[in-house]
Amino acid sequence: MTTKETLIKKLKDKTATIAILGLGYVGLPLAVVFGEAGFHVTGVDPDKRKVDALAKGQSYIPDVKTETVAKLVSSGMLTATTDFSVLKNMDAVSICVPTPLRQTGDPDMSFIISATEELGKYMHKGMVIVLESTTYPGTTREVLLPKLGIEHELVVGEDWFLAFSPERVDPGREDYTTINTPKVVGGITEACGDVATAWYEGAIKIVHHVSTAEAAEMSKLLENTFRMINIGLVNELAIMCERLGVDVWEVIDAAATKPFGFMKFTPGPGLGGHCIPIDPLYLSWKMKSFNYNARFIELASEINTNMPRYVVSRILDAMNDRSMMLKGSKVLVLGVAYKPDIDDVRESPAMDVIGLLKKKGANVEYHDPFIPHIHHEYDGWKMDSVKDMMESVKDADAVIIVTNHKDYDYQAIIESAKFVFDSRNATGKLGKNSAKVERL
Ligand SMILES: NC(=O)c1ccc[n+]([C@@H]2O[C@H](COP(=O)([O-])OP(=O)(O)OC[C@H]3O[C@@H](n4cnc5c(N)ncnc54)[C@H](O)[C@@H]3O)[C@@H](O)[C@H]2O)c1
Repeated sequence: MTTKETLIKKLKDKTATIAILGLGYVGLPLAVVFGEAGFHVTGVDPDKRKVDALAKGQSYIPDVKTETVAKLVSSGMLTATTDFSVLKNMDAVSICVPTPLRQTGDPDMSFIISATEELGKYMHKGMVIVLESTTYPGTTREVLLPKLGIEHELVVGEDWFLAFSPERVDPGREDYTTINTPKVVGGITEACGDVATAWYEGAIKIVHHVSTAEAAEMSKLLENTFRMINIGLVNELAIMCERLGVDVWEVIDAAATKPFGFMKFTPGPGLGGHCIPIDPLYLSWKMKSFNYNARFIELASEINTNMPRYVVSRILDAMNDRSMMLKGSKVLVLGVAYKPDIDDVRESPAMDVIGLLKKKGANVEYHDPFIPHIHHEYDGWKMDSVKDMMESVKDADAVIIVTNHKDYDYQAIIESAKFVFDSRNATGKLGKNSAKVERL
């Protein structure tokens, strides 16, 4: 049998050993899906706290139940370690490390590079490696390939296999999770794609095999760029509607009655999360090396980045209309997660809104049932979530809804507050006729 046939056989009968590099929001759910499908999975992460939690059978990702982790750990299907040398015994490795932006707005490839260099030390014949981190087209071939097989004099597509498969998980979502969201896979060679597809088909319901790693990389960027641009469009619509004196939420609901040709997006205080504000900028950065300016991405990014500032200007106007002054006022921000019902504050526009309110002289507090503490990396401020949310609502001069968590009682909030600025239409029809409530 060829190396490819032997590896595919091991993957199909689930005797292949699996490692996941990076056990965060993407890596842990993926490790669990493979473990539940019957693979022996080893998670490798330099973060000792995560490894220790998993050793105790505890989950630290809200979408993954502790009882699920506990079952996999106690049955020996899932183990975790900070020691990369376990990779020498692995047949299949998936890389799920972060891909943030540098402060300059350029891709920060340091996590991919360090994970690849560690992996490179333990490379061997008969291994399949799949990059899952979202990144610019060409990364798998231009960054991973030279650091892996070439150094080891192994021939890719014959002795070992390399592919890209974007993670599409939407944290907090229950209807589509890692297992039932179709997985796109593209290899460096056709054989690489075949091996990676055989592996993922052992755990994930639908695997869509594309012809190259670049097509798979680009497909993820299309998905996230599509969202970013449509959010930019609807944010600009909100700005235009305010000038026209038209209710943007009513307009969107009306357009959304069209059963075809329209997809609903909603405006808000800005973009957040580890993906939508960042991934398209990986593409526009890459295109600069082709002397091409990705105009839609740059424009949407500009509009979205300005939204916290726009929201604060609307708060100032609304308070002014009510003979209130922001400077010196007590302001309570409700929700700092970047989207409802999750505990992730990465890139959250709430941080910018709070920072801007502070700069205007407001005394800002916040409440978030999912996020007990926040700190602003660059400005250096730190805050704790208020303990008694309704007491703080009563006490505040202004309540600003930044994240529309499901469990907030918006009726009670409107009744108790002196003034509410709702940047998410969380109060919907409740606040429509209330002089106390101003919506984006
Ligand atoms: N979070 C999401 O919703 C989501 C969705 C789709 C795609 N993605 C993409 O998936 C990738 C991972 O994102 P995430 O949200 O899971 O990040 P995360 O920060 O939650 O987890 C990344 C993990 O990688 C670990 N790590 C760092 N350096 C490492 C190394 N050298 N070797 C092994 N592990 C290392 C970190 O300790 C951390 O536990 C990113 O590229 C992201 O864009 C994320």
